[in-house]
Amino acid sequence: MKILGISLGTKNGNNDTMCRVALEEAKKLGAEIEFIHLFDWDIKYCTGCVACSRALVMGKGMVCTQKDDYKALYEKMIDADGVLFVDPIYESGGSGLFHVITDRMGPGHDTGMMLMTSEKMKAAGKEGLDPKYFRQKAVSFVAIGGSDWAVRCETDHAMLAMSPGWKVVNNEFFSWCKDVIMQDDKIERMKEIARNLVEAAQYIIDNNIMIPGSEEVDLWKGDEGACPHCHGNAFYIFPGTTHVVCELCGLEGRLNIVDGAFKFTNDPSLGVNGTIEHAHDLLSGKKMHGDDIFENEGRLMNLFKDPEFKARKEHYTAVCDPTPSPSKDK
Ligand SMILES: Cc1cc2nc3c(=O)[nH]c(=O)nc-3n(C[C@H](O)[C@H](O)[C@H](O)COP(=O)(O)O)c2cc1C
Repeated sequence: MKILGISLGTKNGNNDTMCRVALEEAKKLGAEIEFIHLFDWDIKYCTGCVACSRALVMGKGMVCTQKDDYKALYEKMIDADGVLFVDPIYESGGSGLFHVITDRMGPGHDTGMMLMTSEKMKAAGKEGLDPKYFRQKAVSFVAIGGSDWAVRCETDHAMLAMSPGWKVVNNEFFSWCKDVIMQDDKIERMKEIARNLVEAAQYIIDNNIMIPGSEEVDLWKGDEGACPHCHGNAFYIFPGTTHVVCELCGLEGRLNIVDGAFKFTNDPSLGVNGTIEHAHDLLSGKKMHGDDIFENEGRLMNLFKDPEFKARKEHYTAVCDPTPSPSKDK
């Protein structure tokens, strides 16, 4: 079993240390371990070119126009049975680098779209995508903060696992942690998180679990979350209503007080977004989302030939030129 630890903190800082605490524990349990300090790697941000989603929906395979270490990072994650991310909390959420790798994971590594492309490749007489990309994976997230601004980080983090549809085992944050190496309760919790990850990874290996067909598999070892589907605790509230959206899995429903506590219940009367099948991590939800993207991309492609579309584009482009960067291309 391989456990990969990825830290996004400063070199040998608290995040690196806590990641190593977990990896040491995983090693004690017999796992092969690997550690990546992500700032050592060349990771560029997503430019929004949508080459990845276009290639996937057209059956052309996995494509990215950025030439850097992301593909190698993704392959490292694919080769591991369990992946642990330890990320510093920045402005109550995940770090900028974490957002970058979430975007890069984004549509280009969405299992629903990858299955679609694989089927189209096979139909065209080519080999489909390597089945290794469809193996299930255990993933945990720990955020380390220097204060108690923290409540957006769980959602930011678990979002990375939504595209591939990997199973989250633990997702938590440790506040007031500038001296975390001296806080025995946090060290002990980190070891427990490592043990949970190893156990979940072993379950996947023993049962040879693939992403398609694993919808019902729940490897969650954290506290029960407010969203009964994804354990998320953050909701978008439509003002003046009880209508809410789970910020993580996108499930829509009602937030009501039941027995003195908020209770979220999904509500199919709100439309398809209120059904569990629509949740972002399920293949059924990914299929609906993929079909919607396919339809929208197709409409845009046709618009490129539309004279009214071209006239509007030309009009607004002529309004002003962008100010060049003061430092690039000098
Ligand atoms: C730009 C920036 C924003 C930060 N925002 C928060 C925050 O919102 N909440 C918090 O608890 N800590 C915050 N911190 C503190 C970091 O979480 C802390 O410095 C980091 O976990 C230290 O990890 P390291 O030693 O691995 O670099 C912030 C730090 C920086 C640099």
